[in-house]
Amino acid sequence: MRKRIVAGNWKMNKTYEEALSLVSEIDNMVRDEVSGDVTVIVAPPLPFLQSVGKLTQGNDRMHLAAQNVSEHESGAYTGEVSASMLKSVGTEYVIIGHSERRMYHHEDEQTLYKKVKATIAQGMTPIFCCGEPLEERDADRHFEYVGKQLHDTLSYLSNEEFDQVVVAYEPIWAIGTGRTASSQQAQEMHAYIREQLARMFDAEAAFNTSILYGGSCNPGNARELFAQPDVDGGLIGGASLKSRDFTDIIKSF
Ligand code: 13P
Repeated sequence: MRKRIVAGNWKMNKTYEEALSLVSEIDNMVRDEVSGDVTVIVAPPLPFLQSVGKLTQGNDRMHLAAQNVSEHESGAYTGEVSASMLKSVGTEYVIIGHSERRMYHHEDEQTLYKKVKATIAQGMTPIFCCGEPLEERDADRHFEYVGKQLHDTLSYLSNEEFDQVVVAYEPIWAIGTGRTASSQQAQEMHAYIREQLARMFDAEAAFNTSILYGGSCNPGNARELFAQPDVDGGLIGGASLKSRDFTDIIKSF
């Protein structure tokens, strides 16, 4: 059965002290207020990963994600961090293929494939992001665009490897813009993604894959988005930086 997940992508925000306060607040609110079987993930900036992870350790619902990983195993790659390093400080999930990394760091499908493989090889779960820019949506090519992103990276995985993957649909026009996809647009795309995954792997594997929505998700729209049959949770940016908003989104299931 697929997991219901709310993940907070903190991106490049917060100082060390702020990060520790934020995760402590989230941890307390989740303990006090969240009762369902929801998996809560926080993805702080890299230097804070271990300390944030330590603060979530005693809470079964809370899990730690990295925002990036190197495609290489080890060696002379200045500035990079490997999957085994992330694993060794308690990381369980890695966000891969976020549109900001595709755009600003020119990560192509081959690189993303290697990152997904490296993550799975360490027993961690990739949160593989896909999503179309506005011009593709306006030209009515969004299904084709997202289908290609999935195919170009995920279809090369074995069935066993794919079982570890979580997918996040983040339409680029909805990220940080305040313009959310409607629940109908999200549902349509999530159903399409599941259909593509069923073709690449099998229906059962696709059924069991969690598909998260990301893009201006907030306490006001999360309930309707999460009520869609193929929306299994959210990947939250801006609203994950405020403990109250993030917890309210978690409680929207
Ligand atoms: P916002 O929630 O700020 O739109 O960001 C979404 C996102 O990119 C999460 O990875």
